[in-house]
Amino acid sequence: MTTATAMATKPGQDEALDRDIHAYARANSRKVFVKTYGCQMNVYDSERMEDALTQGGYVRTQNMEDADLVLLNTCHIREKAAEKVYSEIGRIRKLKEARKNTGKRLTLGVTGCVAQAEGEEIFRRAPAVDLIAGPQTYHDIAAMVARAENGEKVIETEFEIEEKFAKLPAPTRQQTIARGVAGFVTVQEGCDKFCTFCVVPYTRGAEVSRPFSQIADEALRMVDAGVREITLLGQNVNAWHGSDGGKAMRLGDLLYQLAEISGLERLRYTTSHPIDMDDGLIDAHRDIGKLMPYLHLPVQAGSDRILKAMNRHHTAAEYLDIIERVRKARPDIAISGDFITGFPGESDEDFEATMDIVRRVNYASAFSFKYSARPGTPGADMEDQVPEPVKSKRLSRLQVLLGEQQQAFNQACIGKTIDILVEKKGRHEGQLIGRSPWLQSVVVEGGLSEIGHMLTVQVTSSGPVSLMAERV
Ligand code: SAH
Ligand code: SF4
Ligand code: F3S
Repeated sequence: MTTATAMATKPGQDEALDRDIHAYARANSRKVFVKTYGCQMNVYDSERMEDALTQGGYVRTQNMEDADLVLLNTCHIREKAAEKVYSEIGRIRKLKEARKNTGKRLTLGVTGCVAQAEGEEIFRRAPAVDLIAGPQTYHDIAAMVARAENGEKVIETEFEIEEKFAKLPAPTRQQTIARGVAGFVTVQEGCDKFCTFCVVPYTRGAEVSRPFSQIADEALRMVDAGVREITLLGQNVNAWHGSDGGKAMRLGDLLYQLAEISGLERLRYTTSHPIDMDDGLIDAHRDIGKLMPYLHLPVQAGSDRILKAMNRHHTAAEYLDIIERVRKARPDIAISGDFITGFPGESDEDFEATMDIVRRVNYASAFSFKYSARPGTPGADMEDQVPEPVKSKRLSRLQVLLGEQQQAFNQACIGKTIDILVEKKGRHEGQLIGRSPWLQSVVVEGGLSEIGHMLTVQVTSSGPVSLMAERV
């Protein structure tokens, strides 16, 4: 019907009609609200679920009170992250009851890593939940939601990773445009490393790489819709492997290929494991101008004894050697990392080794956490659990040092002339926010038509969360 109506209109009326149709859809369709916790892979998955649901007749809402369907895409990495979900469910339960009193229905789904790790247990603990879906089942999300809306309790936690990527619908051009000029592509999922503190191998399953052709198609479609920067995602993104016409590829090769896409200005990848940091990838940092000088390479701890207990498969010296080689290949590269304080058995001396490696590397940014014992991981059963106050004290000392390093890195940018990708409008009228090569937010004056453009600017000052700059 819409096609017939559209054909009856003159060119130019199409757009207005399109607007009317969208307004009609917004007023009459069911609305979905997706709340995302955890890592960027969850952000990517949430987008793909939204794509599938909106192509199936839902419209997105930013307001939970408005929604007919709420999906909580959850993270299980630390206890705090997982517990947050239950307090959110408590709030939604009240909303759901209020809705029921007006004769309407609110469907609540829990997806992501808590769904995978806790499964059925979620129904027991939170009967308000209608749907539980693990990370490898999202290609069925629309069908699962339909069943849940019919009153069925739906649970799906199978691992069928190839299915997920092959069957999830691609975003439409409009959906991609709406998400802005910097986008994510998951290229690898799951983890075979089994660090003794970590739940990811259990929640996401074994390491699987998406085929090169699928990734290339997605990247091309994104660039065609105006995306200028692509970040390749994976729990161990540098374990990615594939093939091109029978020739084996690693992540470095993938980056060389994607860098050929004209219109694509920038490439990034995250997160990497030190043992997969091969020569080809290090060379890519030397050779590919579009590959941004930024490497997130978690080390977790500086003591070899603790690294061994964590099952990280490398020593502190080996990590430092990688950093040295990467810096030789790309001298302006910014290094970022993740750290855990208070892993079982960590002595004062072990912790000093972490402080020492941080001093040696000099990080541009970092994430640091207190060890959280996770059910089902070997670390949780280890003796010598470190008391909370000790973990906290170590974390504060570490964060002071990392904070100083980050600030020094930002300060050192003052006076530099750099290229930024303009991503969005700033907080104040006439301000734009761009991204530096080193992932800092950069505030500069300019007009909205410049979003998506590269600008050359000079950094004038550095604040706590962003740099200020002037155009040159
Ligand atoms: N695959 C990445 C990390 C994924 S999890 C890697 O191997 O580096 C992100 C970060 O969360 C980890 O780097 C680690 O620092 C932290 N983390 C994971 N499990 C944790 C736990 N049980 N307690 C505290 N921090 C944890
Ligand atoms: Fe977790 Fe280790 Fe795998 Fe990273 S490499 S996801 S920390 S098990
Ligand atoms: Fe969290 Fe799962 Fe990502 S546990 S960090 S959402 S892989």
